[in-house]
Amino acid sequence: MLIIGIAGGTGSGKTTVARSVIDRLGPGKVTFISQDNYYKDNPHLTLAEREKINYDHPFAFENELLIEDLKLLKSGQPAYAPVYDFTVHARSKEEKLELKPNHIAIIEGLHVLSDENLRKLLDIKVFVDTDPDVRILRRVVRDIEERGRTIHSVHDQYLSTVKPMHEAFIEPSKKYADVILPEGGENEVGIQLLSILTEKYLTGDRTWGCS
Ligand code: CTP
Repeated sequence: MLIIGIAGGTGSGKTTVARSVIDRLGPGKVTFISQDNYYKDNPHLTLAEREKINYDHPFAFENELLIEDLKLLKSGQPAYAPVYDFTVHARSKEEKLELKPNHIAIIEGLHVLSDENLRKLLDIKVFVDTDPDVRILRRVVRDIEERGRTIHSVHDQYLSTVKPMHEAFIEPSKKYADVILPEGGENEVGIQLLSILTEKYLTGDRTWGCS
């Protein structure tokens, strides 16, 4: 199984890049994984307390579980990822997401390249590099429309944790990327190149040595 990791700041277009590559390759060949599913659960805290957690620090994620699941998939077994609800900052108690073993897995998330153990499992490392003003505009709209936050909450969170964590951990992880993709989903040529490389693998050309 070939594992592609797609990192980048909030609102950079990681999901769009992953979905575009999957669309081009055709359904069924790629297993899509979001690092967001592996946000730690904090059931001991109240909703108001959970809203204030630093969700941009690498410690906010249970990467050990993500790594375990990737290893299961690599060995040909299914994995069952947690389902995360951003509106209540908690994992679903009942639901799990089945991840099927496949030819290719794409894992996208803020800290896909900043964790050394996770990096070791990746065959192709991509960093989506989108201007901060574009990213924050997208985030404001998304967090208010889909994730139940107010404009004040988005403002405070951006300045207190999102921006400093981006500068401390996410931006520096760019140096581990094999491919830097400016403007994410808008970058047709970059997405084509990534798809062609992945297709090469699907047709049996494994010249970069993954197993
Ligand atoms: N986050 C949050 N509340 C939570 C959990 C996470 O506000 N309970 C925020 C974090 O602050 C983090 C963001 O969610 O910055 C991570 O998601 P993001 O990378 O923005 O979303 P994707 O859709 O994965 O990325 P992209 O827009 O690049 O596709």
